[in-house]
Amino acid sequence: MKKSENYPQYLTYQNRKLQPSVLTQEYPLPALGEGEIYYPKNEILLPFFTTEKELQQFGAAQFCTFLSDTIEVEHFLVIPAISSLRRIPFKIPPQPKLDLFKTATDEGYHAEQSLAYLTALVNHFDLPQLEGTLPALFIRRLEQQRLLEPNPVLKDLITIINGIVTETRISIELSKFAINKELSPTVRRICLTHAQDEVIQSSQFQALGKWLWEDFDNDTKALVSSIFIKSTIARSLPDLDSIIASISKATGRTITDASHAVLSRYNEEFLINEMLIAAKPTLQYLEKLGIGNYVSVNASIELEKRSLGIELERRKKLLNVA
Ligand SMILES: [Fe+2]
Ligand SMILES: [Fe+2]
Repeated sequence: MKKSENYPQYLTYQNRKLQPSVLTQEYPLPALGEGEIYYPKNEILLPFFTTEKELQQFGAAQFCTFLSDTIEVEHFLVIPAISSLRRIPFKIPPQPKLDLFKTATDEGYHAEQSLAYLTALVNHFDLPQLEGTLPALFIRRLEQQRLLEPNPVLKDLITIINGIVTETRISIELSKFAINKELSPTVRRICLTHAQDEVIQSSQFQALGKWLWEDFDNDTKALVSSIFIKSTIARSLPDLDSIIASISKATGRTITDASHAVLSRYNEEFLINEMLIAAKPTLQYLEKLGIGNYVSVNASIELEKRSLGIELERRKKLLNVA
């Protein structure tokens, strides 16, 4: 039996002498100034925009997708990961468990903060709600992972692992927005306040992952390693359908037209490279944990690349994309 005092060290608001953003109740809202930029420019899609206004609206639509994904992450990945902690047959010492429970409050606030900014942007740019839009790619893949898993303990572990995976990368992802001086100051502000909370939460989830990992037997480690790598890939792959939807919202092009534009520019090589950039902090964490002893990360990435290639080929053929 492991001892509570061996639980890995982690950050808290108390030991960092910080206040969570839920207490300051800061709601950065868009200032909506002319020419403000809401999302880093996507160089490979630039030729498809004819005016600066379209480009600005595309950025706004993409930032709205980012905020919408944030809400999904908070409500459907991180909070459920915390609530699953009581169901798994692995003991977590009372204090770290309590600290993780506190993060559920912060996450609910991040979702609320994101919704406020998102609503203001959607209203200002009059971005349409598209009929039949799919849920985010990572949510679809997570649902699939859970659906295919018959073992209830592993089902709960999938939920927790998805929480750990997302928390290892989110503070870094948000910080990239916060330090990007090209972006609107309000975009940078909402990402900064969120990133500051996430530094603490990330350290708590990393500690949780390490503690659980040490409790797993070899068979569970093997199963969990494969869940970890699948979740990491799913969480970090660019979501082409959401890029397509953003082009359509920003330019009024049909989904077919926008798909044509995107599919003519993206290939599996590019998608995997983008995924690897976004997943870097998670992959570093998993390497330290030791999942490489149970699963080949490179082989999993190669497999993903092949299936992406097949999927892109299928979609290109349907639309007659060269
Ligand atoms: Fe958050
Ligand atoms: Fe978080």
